[in-house]
Formats: sequence, C-alpha cells, structure tokens
Amino acid sequence: MRLKADPVITGDTRRSEAPEFGVADLRVEYRLNPIGIGVRIPRFSWKLCGTGRGIRQAGYRLQVSEGDPQFRSPIWDSGEADGDRSVHVAYEGKALKSRQVYYCRVRARDSKGRESDWQNAVFETGILDYREWTAQWITFDPARRNLPAEALPLFRKAFEAKPPIRSARIYATALGIYELELNGRRLKDQLFAPGWTSYHHRLQTQTYDVTEHIRLGGNAIGITVADGWYKGRIGGHPRDFYGERRAALLELHLAYEDGSEQSVVTDCSWRTETGPIVMASLYDGETYDARLEKDGWSLPDYDDRNWLPVETIKRGKQMLLPQENVPTVIVRELKPERVLQSPTGETILDFGQNLTGWVSYTVTAEAGTLVELTHAEELDSAGNLYVDNLRSAKQTTSYICKGTGNERYEPRFSFQGFRYVKVRAYPGEAIPERFTAHVVSSDLEETGTFECSDPLVNRLQSNIVWGQRGNFLDVPTDCPQRDERLGYTGDAQVFVRTAAHNMNVAVFFAKWLKDLKADQLPNGGVPNTIPDTLPGWEMHSASGWGDAAVICPWTIYTCFGDSRVLDDQYDSMKAWVEFLRDSGEQEFLRNDGFQYGDWLALDAPAGSYTGATPRDLIATAFYAYSVSLLAKSARALGKEEDAALYEELFANVRDSFNQEFVTPSGRLASPTQTAHVLVLRFGLVEGPIRKQVEKSFIRLLEESDFKLTTGFLGTPYICPTLSDIGRNDLAYRLALSRRFPSWLYSVEQGATTIWEHWDGRKEDGSFWSADMNSFNHYAFGAIGEWFYRYVAGIDTDDAAPGFKHIRIKPLPSQGLTYAKATYQSMYGEIVSGWKLENGEMNMDVTVPPNTTATLDLPNALQDRVTEKGIRLGEAEGVKIVALHENRVTLDLESGIYQFRYQWGT
Ligand code: BGC
Repeated sequence: MRLKADPVITGDTRRSEAPEFGVADLRVEYRLNPIGIGVRIPRFSWKLCGTGRGIRQAGYRLQVSEGDPQFRSPIWDSGEADGDRSVHVAYEGKALKSRQVYYCRVRARDSKGRESDWQNAVFETGILDYREWTAQWITFDPARRNLPAEALPLFRKAFEAKPPIRSARIYATALGIYELELNGRRLKDQLFAPGWTSYHHRLQTQTYDVTEHIRLGGNAIGITVADGWYKGRIGGHPRDFYGERRAALLELHLAYEDGSEQSVVTDCSWRTETGPIVMASLYDGETYDARLEKDGWSLPDYDDRNWLPVETIKRGKQMLLPQENVPTVIVRELKPERVLQSPTGETILDFGQNLTGWVSYTVTAEAGTLVELTHAEELDSAGNLYVDNLRSAKQTTSYICKGTGNERYEPRFSFQGFRYVKVRAYPGEAIPERFTAHVVSSDLEETGTFECSDPLVNRLQSNIVWGQRGNFLDVPTDCPQRDERLGYTGDAQVFVRTAAHNMNVAVFFAKWLKDLKADQLPNGGVPNTIPDTLPGWEMHSASGWGDAAVICPWTIYTCFGDSRVLDDQYDSMKAWVEFLRDSGEQEFLRNDGFQYGDWLALDAPAGSYTGATPRDLIATAFYAYSVSLLAKSARALGKEEDAALYEELFANVRDSFNQEFVTPSGRLASPTQTAHVLVLRFGLVEGPIRKQVEKSFIRLLEESDFKLTTGFLGTPYICPTLSDIGRNDLAYRLALSRRFPSWLYSVEQGATTIWEHWDGRKEDGSFWSADMNSFNHYAFGAIGEWFYRYVAGIDTDDAAPGFKHIRIKPLPSQGLTYAKATYQSMYGEIVSGWKLENGEMNMDVTVPPNTTATLDLPNALQDRVTEKGIRLGEAEGVKIVALHENRVTLDLESGIYQFRYQWGT
C-alpha cells in the first residue's frame, strides 16, 4: 500500500521536456511512497535520467526528515557522498518510530559534473513493535446463534470523530482473512489480507490511510472475517489447520489538527453478528445469501441492539509484523468472449483465458432464487465442463437473491482457477455484459517483455506471465484450482529466475523466504511447502524442493542486487546445506530421505510420477549445486572463511558424484536427459569428461528424435545448457518444436497458461489423468528464463549484481528472424532486440544510466559493424574489448544503441 495523496513535489522530472540530468523514481524498499512499512533500516533506490551516453553517478546526497517536508532539520543527511551507488542505499539515521511519516529526498551529481534537482518521496512506518498494540483480539462463535461454523462473522463499532482531522490510519490483521468497511464503504486496498505466512511465527498487519473516509461526527467500522488459509480447508487438512477461532485485531488512530489524538481499538465494546456469507472456502467457493444482508451495518446509525457483544481472546502478539509483501489486488478484468451451450444443455461462459480470481455479475430474480457458478479450466472433448482435475475443490459460488432487482454479486473470500464458468439457474439470458472476471494476484510490477517473430512463442510468453499472475497470490503456489494451491518449494525454485524477469518479485520472495526460514526444521530440513502445510511429516526436504532455501535468495540477490535478502537468509541457507551434509551415511552424497525425483518426467515408469533419473543422482547433484551457490553467497557477503569451506565442500561433493555416477571414460550412470542436463548445468564434470558428457547428451537427444523426457527438475535447464555447450541450434529446435512433447504443443492445443503435464491434454482431446493435471502450473514456464537470458541475451553479472553491470549476449538461430526483450531494472530500462533481414543484422540495445554493459555481437566482423551509421571504433560510449573469430565483444556505457552489420561475412 502506498500513500494515496502525493504530498510532495517531485524533482525536475515532472517538467515536460527531459532534463539534461536528473533523478527519478525514488523508492523506499522497492516501493513508491509506501505506507505501513516495517523495515527498521529502509533502503533507498533511485534512477538517473538524462541526455547523452555514459551517464554515471559521481555522488549523491540523501536526506530523511521526520514529518517535515521542508527538511529543516533532517534526522539523517548522508552529506555529499561520493560514488555510484544508487540502489539499496541504507538509512543510517536514528531509530525510526512507529506510525510516523518520513520524508526523504535525493539529488545526484554525475561524472560530467552535472547536478540534479532534488527528487522527493515519502514513507510511513507501521506498528513496528508488537508491544505497542493495545487492541484486543475479538471473535465470535456462530454456535452462539445456533448457526453453522462456516457462517462469517461481522464485527462493528460506532464512534464519534471531532473536526478537523489531520490523518486517520487503520492498523489491522486477522486470524483468517478479513475485509474492512468504513461508513458503509469497503476498503479495497487489499484482498485476502493479512496474506499467508507461517502464522504461528509471523502474522502481517496492514496499514490503511482512511483520512478521506472519516466524517465529522458519527462514524463506524466494520470487519468481516473469513476462514482463509488460517482456519479453512488447506492441503490435506479438512479445517482449523492453524487454529479454530477466526478473530480480528484493529486499531484506528485519528490525529487531529490541534495535535490531539484519538484511537478506536477492538475490545469487548464491539458488537457482532453473522452476515450474508454463509460459507467461504478458498477451494470450494462462497455461498452468499443476500436475504441475510445487514443493510447499512457499517454505518454509524445502524441499530445493533440485537447484535451480540464480541468475545475477546487472549493470544500473544509477538508474531505481529507490518506487512512485508505487496498487497493482493485485482489486476485485470475480463468479459466473457463467448457464451456456449454444452451438449448436456449447460450454459458456459468462456473468458478466453485461464485465470485466477472470481466472477461478479448482476441478476434480477425473486427472493430466494439460487444462482450457481462452477469454475473450471477446460471443457472435455464433448464440450462439457471438465471438473475432474479439480479433485475435491468445488470452485462454486452460490448467490441467493434478495429480490430487489438488479442485484450485484461479487465473491471475495475464495478464489478460483478457471477459464470456463458453468452458470446454473441464472434467470434470464446469461449475456456477456452481465458477467465480469476479476483477475486476482499479488500487485507485482510487470518488469519484463519478450517478443519474437514466432507468434506461438509470443503466446507461450503470455502463458508464462498469466501462469505467474495466477499463482503469485501472496505466496508462489503450484496451482490455483485444485485442492492444493500450496507454496511448493520446488515449483518456486525452478521458476524464480523467470519470475524475476517478468515482474519485480524481490519483496514477494523476501517475505516467502522468511516463512521458509520460520518453518525450517531444527535440523535444517525444509518443508516441501512453505508455509508448511505438512508439519511433522517424514516427507520434507526433497531435493530440488528444499534447495529453494538457497536458490531463491541467490536469484533475488543476482537480479535485484539485494544483499540483505542474502544476509537475512544466510543462516537458513547454511542450515539447509548442513542438513544435506548430515543426512544419510555419506557426507558427500545424498542418497536418503524423501524424494520426488524428476517429477512428472515422461520417462517415468508406468503408474509413477517420478522420472527415470535415479533419485540419489538428482539429490547429490542438487546438493552440489546448493553448496556452490552457498559458497558464492558467502563470498558476496564477505564471509571468506565460509566461502573457502563451502568451495571445498563443493569439490568433495563433486568428486563423490563423479565416483558414484560417472565412469572414468565419462559415461553417466543414468542415460537420461535430466541426468546429463544437471551434470552439465551444475558444473559437476570438467575437461575431457565434460566433453564426453556433452557428446552423449546430444546423442541421447538425437536417439530420442528430440523428444523431451525431462520433468520438473530437468526441463528448466535443458535449453540454457544446450546454448551454453555451443548447441544453440538444438535449443531452438526444442523450444520451437510444435510436436508433442514440447512447450508449443500445448500452445497449439489452445493453452493460455502453462500445463503441469506435457500431455495434460492429448492430441485426441482426452486428458492425461484427473488426479494430477493442472492447466495452470508454472514450472515448465521456466523456459522464459532462456528467452530473456539467451535468445534476447539479457543477463546479470555475479560480480555486479542487480544489473549494475549487464551482460548482453543475444543468441539468434534458425527459426526466428527477430527477438526482443525489455527489462525494467532497478537502474532503468534494459533493451536487447535483434532483427535478421536479408543477411543484415540490426540490433537495438539500451543500457540504463549508471550501469555498464558488455555486449557480444554474434556472427560479426568488427569492421563491418556500424552503430547509428558510425564505425564501431568511433561510436560514443563503445569500447571494443575482444575480437573473436566470428564475434565482437564490446563494453558499453549507458545509452541507446543501434548496431547494424552483415550477418556472418
Ligand atoms: C504439486 C507440485 C509439487 C508436487 C510435489 C504436486 O501435487 O502440484 O507442483 O511440486 O506435488 O511433488
């Protein structure tokens, strides 16, 4: 959430003409003017902008003031700091207070001596210390009204406010999920609050700026609390996984112009009753009986004499913390593309896109009329709604009309994964205008685009992004439709890099990783889902799943230069690696514990989900990989001793791997695609043995006629590995193949998101199976990473993470005539686009200010290359650093470049 009004004058960048040099987009902990932050040492990031090439920051001045937009006596002034640091500059002033507005501003100098205007921003803290909460937990047991436990309670409280108000803030959270109303209006800032965390350890609290909603005189607050993840059905748990009692906790703080303050907090003076929602479940849907609405219940003059006093419960508050993640919001709205009549006579809306969210509609009918919507991803081959793959999730919303005419219903406490909606008992004609699909997702800024000359690949890219939208709902989930929707660690780690290109996922993962740490077992093992929904099970720490503990923080560090994530997670990363070292009988091999193996690989024996690659081979390979990333992380954090220790451990694990799984002549113990990919990708073989493994990998692909057999763990790496070993042509062949099994097979079959199975839907229209067949499972969408990093060639540099130094190495090949990726980095937009026409290569490259890039021009001869018509050696901002046989490597200063050359000759 951010401060609604922009109370400060931003710098020069608002002028209509571009400034010669300026600072823009000053952010606090990645966010613009955030409200309710809980970070005690916030970091500031800004972008430089201006004309010309080679913009580099030479220094900056950053100031923070407490409540004073004029900065008369800043509480922190960096002074004229030297250097090019413009991302994650940490606050160094005195301790921040709770519920306080802070103003900040920055100005920068560049290496040419230009100075920018000030760029201003504002941020506000939440309740930083749980001991400051004075509110009490309030609850209601529907049994007091002889109502079923599912009925949702409403809580209300009327109060008086006196004029004139300077600001009003609500701080709130719930055991369950909640929604607020103030004076009859829903606060729509956030859905599914307080989000999903490891509730026993961490419960987020939200901050709402409600200044505009407060009236002089009578006011009232209303809270609705639903089961959500806390009390509802989740994973295999029927109910009450975290606790039995739904409860709410809220404080409203009013600050008056005269300096006085007033607060309204949840306590025993609140009143409660059940409302129109008689059932709400994340998996099953919602039942709303409009006849039970309590009209005006959140208005001050509502007569609540028949309501009951709330119960208060004693519950610790140590787990309360200001919201870390971005809020969950409605990100898109879609109208049905078609209304179908199924062979069995059902009316089905087709939204043309598999999505996560819900459907609102208007209806006019007699009181008591029940309208029911059932959501599904697919139609069966006969054209009827296919619900078998939802397993036990009902995905059904029911609305019982009150009979007032033109009623509007929108569910809010359940989400569905669907493209098709069966409409039952809708009175009148179900015309598209009456229905709207609301797409619900974490409010992540979309930062990446990829497009190319193959329309099917463009659709695939769109499917990947839709898969991310649908599954990044406060936690990275496996799927949004069946009775799982859990934060599977394996799915998250294979997709994290692609995710980080598509959207700014830094705080999203930072929050989830803290839950991983909170739920980590005492021995360092990692639950297979985070938040942990399988506590106490033997089934934890699967290889390729638990490794998320290391792979995800490393990836966030690499893509966003966020060393704090690495630092915060370091103990957890280390604990995971030490768990791997300790488990089993051999220190340097992993051959025990619960394993999923190469999940859903096509070389799985009949009746199994686990591919043919031996589990211990996969487990040891991932062990080595995690150790290597931990060693790099230690190095990045300046923990030199640890770095040396883990480099040595990596060498030991690699040696053991070789002894166990590689013959002296370089044959792998397992002739599977996944085994070869992992060995090459994780650097487990070297020298002539590596060459041998590369050869046998290619032979394997040829022998299989280029049919993929890889599952969750092998698939993400296959194209990057081929490109890296000099067989980019084969990477293209696999990526562009339309033949089953391939990414584009699903696209040709009409997929609008990524399927869990290569053969989720077979060529004859039949389904793979009902029990494990999601059509919105992003894992195989990890191919997106290859499009960004290899086809368009935008890559990070471990030595200067967060795209401070960019490696741009596009790899064109047969099958595409152009490709282009853009990425909004922390420094600004990066572009890499190439077009090959009539033997001429045109390449567009943008390097944002305050960064540098190394660009590799493929198939180029130096003296044939021009940049905007100028010979390479003379082009501004360009330095030739290496000439290879058919490649030119350049160092680039920031700027917008256009290279042109004859391809290959
Ligand atoms: C999920 C997967 C997950 C797996 C673990 C499945 O049911 O949907 O995506 O990683 O279980 O095996």
